[in-house]
Amino acid sequence: MSFGKMPIANAFIKNLKTKEYLFELAPGFCPNCSLFQLIKQPNPNKLFHKDYAFFAGTSLKMQKHFKNLATKLINRFGLKKNDLTVEIGNNDGGVVNYLAMKKFKNLGVDPSLNVARSAKSKGVSMFNGFFNFPTARKIKKKYGEAKVFIAQNTLAHIPDINSVFRGVEELLTPDGIMVTEDPYLPIMLKKGSYDQIYDEHVFILSLTAMINICKKFNLRIFDVEILKTAGGSLRYFICRDNNRNISNRVKKQLRFEKKLNLKSLKTYKKFKEKCEKSKYALISKLKELKKKKKSIVGYGATSKSTTIFNYSGIDSSLIDYITDTTPTKINKFSPGTHIPIKSYNYFEKNYPDYCLLLAWNHKDEIFLKEKKKFSKKGKWIIHLPKLQILSK
Ligand code: TMP
Repeated sequence: MSFGKMPIANAFIKNLKTKEYLFELAPGFCPNCSLFQLIKQPNPNKLFHKDYAFFAGTSLKMQKHFKNLATKLINRFGLKKNDLTVEIGNNDGGVVNYLAMKKFKNLGVDPSLNVARSAKSKGVSMFNGFFNFPTARKIKKKYGEAKVFIAQNTLAHIPDINSVFRGVEELLTPDGIMVTEDPYLPIMLKKGSYDQIYDEHVFILSLTAMINICKKFNLRIFDVEILKTAGGSLRYFICRDNNRNISNRVKKQLRFEKKLNLKSLKTYKKFKEKCEKSKYALISKLKELKKKKKSIVGYGATSKSTTIFNYSGIDSSLIDYITDTTPTKINKFSPGTHIPIKSYNYFEKNYPDYCLLLAWNHKDEIFLKEKKKFSKKGKWIIHLPKLQILSK
């Protein structure tokens, strides 16, 4: 299945004359290992570099989420101050930020220099680089084995997923645990949230696929949790194969996945149809509103919106501007479709008739924030799982 030529989702441009790197965004499903993955992946150096545009710290909900996991590690798994926790892709803080605040031994690993510097300034020990087997060896030599290994919405970003697991096998203490979460394939298929598919999401993972990978490295998934984060995720608790019993929750989730026919081509054909329907519903609604001379603003210059806009051919003739709170995105243009990005301050002075909620995974947080502000003046367009117009 192909979504056509795409720019890098987070490559916001300063100058409209910039020649943008394009690649074919086409996911496929492997019936052997059950991985849903991009067939062609852009070089990771093009995605994670010194000017990475995404700062996790901008979402209060995500901060609470990270803090809760830090508390869970201490309370449920009895983490001690001297136990090393390694978190990969911890961005500008992550879970290790909360462990660092409580003086727990920690190490963040992130390849993007700007976010890694930000985490370091908050007191997190940092290793600036990609995590793989050689990195795991270096970390083990310098800091010792890790009692906890965390990857929050990171694993699915790494093309050489086998090298990560080989690194985990190398790095974990015998009783150590890995906690990882990523957007969950069955939720994406159900919602038709095709905007989860972009360059950074090399994989959309499922329990079945994760079990297959873990087996290769003598690891076992002993528990899972369904989460609302990142538009619907599954969190996996992983240990060495001879450690801990497999919970009933894992068995139940696996039975659920078996019923979904994840290995059948039909499942993905249906998904593609859903994507097409969603695209046409959105375009026709935006065109209808524009005919009536309504102003429309995108709320949140998300990575996901790059897929929606480029797949649907939605540009500044339909969306006046996109508002975003991330300083590195403001006063730039959206990748491929060149819609201007404006600050929240600008948005407050230039409320449109309609806001298209692009950061739909932060809906609760945004609706709470906007309850007494934009929501009193204009309407919301929600495009997933079904196109809806919400007022007040
Ligand atoms: P992401 O979905 O790619 O993580 O990007 C989320 C974007 O949404 C990020 O650039 C920040 C932006 N955002 C806002 O502008 N306002 C908000 O209230 C929230 C929660 C996010």
